[in-house]
Amino acid sequence: MSQIRKIGLLTSGGDAPGMNAAIRAATRTALKRGVKVAGIYRGYRGLIEGDIKDFTARDVSNMINHGGTILYSDRCKEFATPEGMAKAVATCKEHEIDGIICIGGDGTWRGAADLTAHGVPCIGLPGTIDNDITCTDYTIGFDTAMNTILEMVDRLRDTCESHARCNVVEVMGRNAGHIALHTGIATGATAIAIPEIPFDEEQMLNDIIECRKDGKRHFIIMVSEGLPGYGEHLAKIIPEITGVETRFACLGHVVRGGAPTLRDRLLGAEMGHAAVEHMLSGNSNIVMCERDDTIVPMDIHLAMLIDRVYKGTVKPGELETLTGKDIDIMNMLLTRKRAKMQKLYAAAHEISK
Ligand code: F6P
Repeated sequence: MSQIRKIGLLTSGGDAPGMNAAIRAATRTALKRGVKVAGIYRGYRGLIEGDIKDFTARDVSNMINHGGTILYSDRCKEFATPEGMAKAVATCKEHEIDGIICIGGDGTWRGAADLTAHGVPCIGLPGTIDNDITCTDYTIGFDTAMNTILEMVDRLRDTCESHARCNVVEVMGRNAGHIALHTGIATGATAIAIPEIPFDEEQMLNDIIECRKDGKRHFIIMVSEGLPGYGEHLAKIIPEITGVETRFACLGHVVRGGAPTLRDRLLGAEMGHAAVEHMLSGNSNIVMCERDDTIVPMDIHLAMLIDRVYKGTVKPGELETLTGKDIDIMNMLLTRKRAKMQKLYAAAHEISK
């Protein structure tokens, strides 16, 4: 018999379209199985302050199609302090919350792992537009953000074509270039600059010059925000060196809102459902990942460690705790992530002109 009688749900960090689908699926799965659900508002801040409502199935009606998160979000520094953690644990006791599903990026997962260590079993779901979580192929919100970028850049391209201009477009993604790379390919960008792979500025300038001679009127250059100020720099030098009039557009937060795509709704729903099943089976300290179209669990500490290796932020000695099996899994995931990016980048380069 499961010891879980009430599951809390929270969203934390940058919101992402599809989070609502996860909240809805987790709520309804739990209720169907006779388990109560507590909606925790404003992420870990709401947990500390007791901003909580017991949910019925109707509380999650008519929101699967909305962006943002009905639970609201927060980046709560107090939660990282011993006092904040003590308050959060006390809130769980007071509201009889036996476990929490925490939806967000790596910061949210750190909170989930800490809470589990303090006696509140947690499961993490990857909710971030950035897709910067190594253990999962896709994060909730990535697809919607990219589709919004496509729409925006298609519009920019129309006006570039009319005026024979170049548009440098900066997109979100924090320190990761997944959004820029995927949308760069899908919008037919002439060049894509991301933090993970050295950018050949000279090649880009030559490509613009050559293609202009060829009759190409519009140019899109996609740049990740992970290269701060680089988009503006390119927008300055492109007209100076190539003679092509250039504009700069930073799409910013506009791509984080809006109705989730089918993919993000489905991913959120599948992961929300799976997380409840795992929690009721007595599993916690795990995260849900999508790999090869399948939702699979992974130990939260291993997931975060692999992520630190990928991002180059691993601390000395951290890898010594890994078993041989963990190392195999880590190497498989790292190789897969890096190979995918390299392959896409190489393809992008070949098809850009
Ligand atoms: O992690 C999601 C994200 O939108 C990043 O792409 C971006 O760098 C960051 O959050 C922006 O954070 P904020 O909403 O706090 O400005």
